[in-house]
This record gives sequence, structure tokens and C-alpha cells, in this order.
Amino acid sequence: MTILLTGGAGYIGSHVLLCCLEAGHAVVVLDDFSNGSPEALTRVQGLADGQVTTWHGDIRDAALLERIFARHPIEAVLHFAGLKAVGESVANPLAYYDVNVGGSVTLARAMAAAGVFRLVFSSTAAVYGDQAQMPLTETSALGQPSSPYGCSKLMVEQVLADLCAADPRWSVGVLRYFNPAGAHPSGRIGEDPRGVPANLIPYAMQVAVGRRPELAVFGNDYPTPDGTGMRDYIHVMDLALGHLAAMEHLADHTGHHIWNLGTGRGHSVLEVIRGMERVINRPLPWKLAPRRPGDTAQCWADPARAATDLGWRATRGLDEMLADHWRWQAQNPEGYQS
Ligand code: WQD
Repeated sequence: MTILLTGGAGYIGSHVLLCCLEAGHAVVVLDDFSNGSPEALTRVQGLADGQVTTWHGDIRDAALLERIFARHPIEAVLHFAGLKAVGESVANPLAYYDVNVGGSVTLARAMAAAGVFRLVFSSTAAVYGDQAQMPLTETSALGQPSSPYGCSKLMVEQVLADLCAADPRWSVGVLRYFNPAGAHPSGRIGEDPRGVPANLIPYAMQVAVGRRPELAVFGNDYPTPDGTGMRDYIHVMDLALGHLAAMEHLADHTGHHIWNLGTGRGHSVLEVIRGMERVINRPLPWKLAPRRPGDTAQCWADPARAATDLGWRATRGLDEMLADHWRWQAQNPEGYQS
């Protein structure tokens, strides 16, 4: 079938694109290349056969969306396009509400006008806010996300829930990602952050490749076994396959569904550093720094619902994630500019 991928040239979108092609789907990509790269699309097409049509544009452009739906027999939409830098969202909240919330509303309206009601939405574990009890299940109380980025994702979840309540034709899957990392094992596609990476693994990778002198460990006085923050790192290929499973499930399940996509295991910052050192086979320079404002001590998923409903579970662990991420980084030290 034909699938629309908004943000298909980004980190997660490009891996999902590859999985869609491998599953035999035709894919229409809409991307404004503000954070994704045309080179990612070229490389995906070097890894898999199949039909990709690319539209360069903005998800807030209703006329463009109308043209795309008129031109292609789209049956499902996987919606990745959006802004995702937590710190930037604090400095520029309106951009986040405009693109993430406004863009999603415009997309949903265009879908309804075209009679397309199957949607998979990229959400985040940030919607749980700061919680004492781990693991997080989809029924855990929602917290206050610590940034406009997290709030914008939670708002879209609510918009989509309301839409499903109002119109029974909708099938919506909300995927709450934990901490995506890793790359396709070919080393051809991967994460290519613009500017200084905000997240642990991409930052550590740039230290390992010599682009940055050392990693700062943000606090070692958290109530965790080694005092550093614990997260549920999930391989981007596992995450990508979760999207296909959700999309298939939605074909015969209407309504609003939420699934955590995580491994169910937390790893500390020091465990990630040790894992990096095994992969690069030398010490990784790091220093202790103060806590980062807004960070929580720990966050990991209960992924049981996705296993029960979708038959999906993450199969790749931290070592494989770091090895695959490192292959991409070592082969492409400057990302897609290399
Ligand atoms: C992980 C751990 C840090 C950087 C955020 C968003 C989430 C999602 C992913 C995206 C924490 C520590 C980090 C560094 C460090 N967003 N750390 N030194 O904060 O769990 O999640 O990014 O689309 O919604 O909230 O991920 O990778 O930034 O941090 O010590 O240089 O690593 O304190 O414990 P986080 P992260």
C-alpha cells in the first residue's frame, strides 16, 4: 500500500522509510529538510528497492497536503515531522506549538478531507513527566512535561484522542518513544544532529570521533545505583519495526491507542560510557558536571502492551545499539556532510 511519511528524511523517519520499503510499501515522503537530509533519502534508496516520492514542504501547508493526498493513493500516515530540541523549545515555545501542534492539526484536517483515517503519531515518554514509580505503563498518570516540546506532544495526543472520540472512522496509534539510539547496521544512515547534540549517545559519539573534547556527565547524586540518570535506550531499528506493527494493527482497530516503545530496561550514564569504551576500545574522556535542569533520575518503559497488542518487542540491547551507532559515526564523522 501507499504510506505518507512526514519527516521521512529525519533520524527515525529514514529508518522507518527503509523498513516500509523492505515490507513492500510505496512511500511518499514529505519533509522540509530543516532537520532531515535529502542524502538520507538517497542512501535509503541505495539500501532497498521500492518506490519513494519526495515532496519538499511544510506540514503546516494545507494546500500542499491537499495536493499530496490528491496525487497519491495514501492509506496510512506515519507522522514524524516536528521540532524536537528540548532546550530550544524552552527558548522558543511558539515555534514548537506552531509546528508540532498546528502542523498535526493541519495534517489531521487534510487526512479527513481526503478520507484517510489511519495515523501513527510520534510521541515521547516525556509526557509522563517526573515519576517516582518505574516502569512506566500507558496507564501511568501523565505528569507535567518539563518543556514546551513535551507539552506540545501531549497536546497532540489529546487532539487525536478527541478526534477519535468525535469520529469513529479514525484509527490512531500514539507511540511513546523512550530514548532512541543506534543506526541501521549498514552504517549508511543514522542520527545527524544539527549543532551541538543535546542527547547523551550522539554527544558521546562525537567525543569518540574527535569532534568534541569530552562528555559532561550531568550529575552523580541521583537516587540510582551509581548516582547517574537511568534511561531506556531503544535501538532505532526496533523502534522502526514498532511503527510497522502499529500501522498493521490499526488496519482493523479503530479508535485511539497508546503504546510505549521501549525495552523495559534502564541503563545509567556510566553504563553507557562503559559500553562506548568497549565499542571504541579505548577510554572515553568525560568529566562530572552539575545536574541538567529538568532532568529526571530515571525513566524506563513497561513495554508489555505493545507485546500483547502488536506482537512487537525490542530485540536489540545497548551493546548492539552502541556498536551500530558507532559504525555510522565512524564512517560518517560529519554526518551526511562527510
Ligand atoms: C539521557 C541521560 C542526562 C547528555 C530527551 C527528551 C526526550 C527525547 C530524548 C526527543 C540523562 C544524561 C545527557 C550529556 C549526560 N527527545 N546526559 N550528558 O533527557 O532522557 O530525553 O531526549 O526527541 O523527550 O526529554 O535524553 O540523551 O538527553 O539524556 O550526562 O551530555 O544522559 O542527564 O540522565 P533525555 P538525553
